Amino acid sequence: MRFLVAVSPFIGASLAARPFLDVADTGFTDYLTKTAEWTEGKLPDLQDIRALPDFEFAAKQVLPEESWAFYRLAAGQEWGYRNNLDIWKKVPLRPRFMRDVTDLENNIGIELFGHNFSAPFFIAPAGNAGHSDPERAELNFMEASGDEDILYTAALYATKTIEELDAVKRNDTSNGRQVIFQQIYTVDDLDITWTNIQRAVDTGAKAIVLTVDTPGSSVRVRGARHSGVDYPAASTRPHTWDVYDEIRARTDLPIILKGIQTVEDAKEALDRGVDGIYLSNHGGRQLEFSPSPIEIAYEIYRNAPHIFQQVPVLADSGVRTGSDVLKLLALGVRAVGLGRPFMYANVYGYEGVRRAIRLLKNEIIQDGWNLGISSLEDLNPNLLNVKSLEQNVHRVTC
Ligand SMILES: Cc1cc2nc3c(=O)[nH]c(=O)nc-3n(C[C@H](O)[C@H](O)[C@H](O)COP(=O)(O)O)c2cc1C
Repeated sequence: MRFLVAVSPFIGASLAARPFLDVADTGFTDYLTKTAEWTEGKLPDLQDIRALPDFEFAAKQVLPEESWAFYRLAAGQEWGYRNNLDIWKKVPLRPRFMRDVTDLENNIGIELFGHNFSAPFFIAPAGNAGHSDPERAELNFMEASGDEDILYTAALYATKTIEELDAVKRNDTSNGRQVIFQQIYTVDDLDITWTNIQRAVDTGAKAIVLTVDTPGSSVRVRGARHSGVDYPAASTRPHTWDVYDEIRARTDLPIILKGIQTVEDAKEALDRGVDGIYLSNHGGRQLEFSPSPIEIAYEIYRNAPHIFQQVPVLADSGVRTGSDVLKLLALGVRAVGLGRPFMYANVYGYEGVRRAIRLLKNEIIQDGWNLGISSLEDLNPNLLNVKSLEQNVHRVTC
């Protein structure tokens, strides 16, 4: 099996540091090879997917190399990406017992800008879902998130247009017509940006997610090996506060800045009237050694905790389990996004995306029970052992 072949040389070298296994061992490969009727290179049965990392293994089986590289790639030698996945183990939980937790099942919903969602996680904006389902692409994200009543944040560079996504909105969610947020990038020709914002407004998007963590194109070694995976060169001019001010003047929609990585930028965003901030290192795809979301959230918690009360704080990058979600929420994050897991799940189409959502909801409930909470309100930093975060936190006066 490709997975085992790839890691076996490292297992021998046990003198070195523990090898980095970017696909968690959920027992999936053992099961597939020993029990299930499965052939390498084929999609495993969807019912055999038991956790989000299983989707990664499944997607790798069937995606063309170029598409796989595009989804999986990260910046540089991928240390930021690795840290996103590894950091969780450095923040153990501190569960509390002898509490009535029976209500949690009905209490994992959240509110964002007056809209209600059934769970504290969302599908993060990721372009080109057509690699995993060429025909339906992001329509699966729209429909599965609508049916499961969670938020979808559509990427500007989606395979489907803003208008095509609007056309499949559900009308019967807890918000009535399905609520989505629209991600945008600014480009050199700001007229294009103004048009894109207007398209989002015209199709009823309920917030603009303005991605700010891409002032330059990035070193994407894994992607550079394949044609068609390179990004166009970015330019720095659109990523300035004066451009944000222009956007602010053009729309009444809430604006969420995506890609905030320091408490200083979080504070500045609030000072400038931003409606929400979104902690993210773009899944490690932009800057080598950029911080993971829990490190950013902790930096804010230690330096300016009031920020979590002032505006909704979203976060993503490396989130793969219910406990990852709970950890971010315990520090004050309101909603947590996932990018790659949903792109991988999309190789199964709508059913795959829906299963991913359900698996994660279930993990949040089960982990929440065992953590001792009866609602998301009960989450607080005392439920985390933050010793390791505390050792590295950056303290600032701002
Ligand atoms: C294939 C792919 C495409 C992405 N495209 C965008 C994009 O167009 N705009 C954006 O703001 N973020 C984009 N992202 C970043 C995601 O929004 C998100 O920050 C990241 O995937 C979270 O990390 P995770 O994949 O580990 O969950 C993309 C991510 C992936 C994997």
